[in-house]
Amino acid sequence: MSELLIRGRVLTFLAEPQGIDDTAAWRYIEDGAVFVRGGKVVEIGEHAEVSRRAGPGIAVADHRPHLVLPGLIDTHLHFPQTQAIASYGAQLLEWLNTYIFVEEQKFAEAAHAAAVADRFMDELLSNGTTTAVAYCSVHPESVEAYFSAAEARGMRMVGGKVMMDRNAPDALRDTPQQGYDETKRLIGKWHGRGRAHYAISPRFAITSTPEQMEMSQALVAEHPTCFVQTHLSENRDEIAFATSLYPQAKDYTDIYARYGLLNDRMLLGHCIHLSDREVSVLAETGAVGVFCPTSNLFLGSGLFDRDRFDRLGARWSVATDVGAGTSFSMLETMDEAYKVLHLNGQKLTPFNSFYRLTLGNARALGLEKHIGSLHAGADADIVVLDSSGKSAMEYRMRTATSLAEELFILQTMGDDRCVAEVYVAGKAMKGKGKTGAANQR
Ligand code: GUN
Ligand code: ZN
Repeated sequence: MSELLIRGRVLTFLAEPQGIDDTAAWRYIEDGAVFVRGGKVVEIGEHAEVSRRAGPGIAVADHRPHLVLPGLIDTHLHFPQTQAIASYGAQLLEWLNTYIFVEEQKFAEAAHAAAVADRFMDELLSNGTTTAVAYCSVHPESVEAYFSAAEARGMRMVGGKVMMDRNAPDALRDTPQQGYDETKRLIGKWHGRGRAHYAISPRFAITSTPEQMEMSQALVAEHPTCFVQTHLSENRDEIAFATSLYPQAKDYTDIYARYGLLNDRMLLGHCIHLSDREVSVLAETGAVGVFCPTSNLFLGSGLFDRDRFDRLGARWSVATDVGAGTSFSMLETMDEAYKVLHLNGQKLTPFNSFYRLTLGNARALGLEKHIGSLHAGADADIVVLDSSGKSAMEYRMRTATSLAEELFILQTMGDDRCVAEVYVAGKAMKGKGKTGAANQR
């Protein structure tokens, strides 16, 4: 079984930091090492001790002075929108109709879907993201491409075919029965195969009829270990349109509640303009609100109210939301998260940011046994961050005097240039992608 000692400044979280001085929430080992065997973490600790226990002749990847963290996790993005990032000048509904519903039609072609899926996985990895939760297009071919590309790299990925049967071009619409049948077949093929997890994905209330919502409800009831994902309260026009289509619902959240879709495996993108009642319903059901700061600023959607989620006991996670999100980088995402919260008079400490990128997002997915921290038995999904990866950042970093300051500079100024290496199940991936003919598109 392959063994490797990964040496560097090891940082991993044990709990959600309750303040900037909450040193019990994380473990930092200055001359640390992660001992990996057969794709899993065996142990972490002081390099001298771990290396002695690992025995002589062990292969060593010496990443000093870089930081060694669990791989980053992105809880919401759209793989068919990889080439639609930076589409100009529109808010949500116009943006969807003008750009996205045009772009997603290309995924009827399996070869296109495969090429984009390869590039998508490589972009994630070059940004240090080892697990992500993505929407595919309405075409089953896009799901095949997505999970095949993840499987080829050994990545733990969550995804699913979008279901949409109205308010979209003909070429992007399924029917309630077709959405159900195709989803069921894809779950049977992919859910639990290797490291794949399926997400049942009605796009949002606007693009699903009540009949499709009923089919989604049946799928969720029949497949309780699958994730569920949709969008909620991103934009004022969207809310008005969605609630007009479901006049019997109390509010937007109640649309999903009435169809039994809210549970602790449900991820709801955006959740910006919610009432206390709605956030309380998310808290009661364990559903997760997904904060997508670069997207929310890019589309002019609004500011996520993190403090309200915390006050009402609702769960939340962070995500890029590519292609409304403007970067694959979770570092850049936390840079914008900090600014969005700041505009709302809320603070995000550097330790809390890095907790969210790793253990926090893993907990939001209920996958913390496998990913998000470097505990014994965890998957060896690891990112190595170079705090001097960008020149202006390196210059600023010279004046940093604490780990908290270093992390804050990394999230504020860092991007994919700061990812020195990324391991998927113990295998170094940097430089593996962007080479094949499939990636030339
Ligand atoms: N709401 C429904 N579909 C989408 C999408 O693709 N992106 C965003 N940002 N919001 C959505
Ligand atoms: Zn989205």
